[in-house]
Amino acid sequence: MVKATPQVTVSAPGKIIISGEHVVVHGYPALVAAVNRRIKVKIVSSRGSLGVFPLHSWTFVKDALETLVKHIGFSPKYLDVKIKSDIPIGSGMGSSAAFAVAISMAILKKTGKGYDLKKIGDLAYELEKKYHGNPSGVDIAISTYGGVLWYRKETEEFKVFTNVNVSKKLPEVFLLDTGKPDETTKGTVAHVSSLLRNKPVKTVKTFEKVEKVTRAFLQYLIGEKSDNFTNLIKTNERLLEELGVVSPSTRSLIKKIEDSGGAAKISGGGGIRGASGIMLVYHKDKQKLLDFAKKKNLKLERVTFGGKGVAIEK
Ligand code: MEV
Repeated sequence: MVKATPQVTVSAPGKIIISGEHVVVHGYPALVAAVNRRIKVKIVSSRGSLGVFPLHSWTFVKDALETLVKHIGFSPKYLDVKIKSDIPIGSGMGSSAAFAVAISMAILKKTGKGYDLKKIGDLAYELEKKYHGNPSGVDIAISTYGGVLWYRKETEEFKVFTNVNVSKKLPEVFLLDTGKPDETTKGTVAHVSSLLRNKPVKTVKTFEKVEKVTRAFLQYLIGEKSDNFTNLIKTNERLLEELGVVSPSTRSLIKKIEDSGGAAKISGGGGIRGASGIMLVYHKDKQKLLDFAKKKNLKLERVTFGGKGVAIEK
């Protein structure tokens, strides 16, 4: 009788930062939502050598396995790793974090040792540090737990987050991909950190204003205040521009969306010179936004907030 090859498939969601990107690295809160885009990682013990598909994910997988060897003493000789994803890479939607979370769970499951969401998140965070140097951990938390989270990194070891029960019917928002930024998230995070070092007073003021708007978004979502969603997005975007993480071409596109009566903000690391990754777009008159997008040949995609976190796939 042929013994079935043990295999595990795990999926994990990408994310959208509603407010608080960048400042979250420096201990301020962020509001973040899991979205309906996922990565799927399948691992199969094989009889050959380590095989990775698609091949461009090879370094990711090698790094992941090295980290896993270090932290849980897992060192497979043979493994097939297959990756399928509909989260755009390097565009601010947390593709690398989702990968780190999914492979961590898959490997933990495969080793047969016990695990829980905390263990998956901790392991994935170690992996995320390899790509980003100084991540806040927000992308890992949302991909692990899903839903909508209020998140704050108090210290390297102590991160506080809680699920946000969205009481209001969420406004219908869209994603618009401005393209892959020239800079990595690590690069834009370093840019903001250097602003903080060189102009601490001014930068801290901007950080505090971001915290205020993040709080206003929270109060809006839980129904405590009926703020104007368009204005919240606009204010958030202006502050991100002050931090220098929105490129000139993205700023000019956002200005056009605003002139048509809508609002847009970058979400995630952003981009300084060329494109700025994914943008969140909102218009209280949806048809106006769709007409505008059609006229300008822009591809808007509907996104839903708050999907499930990491999970084993049947
Ligand atoms: C990236 O999704 C969000 C940033 O705030 C970086 C981080 O929190 O690690 C830009």
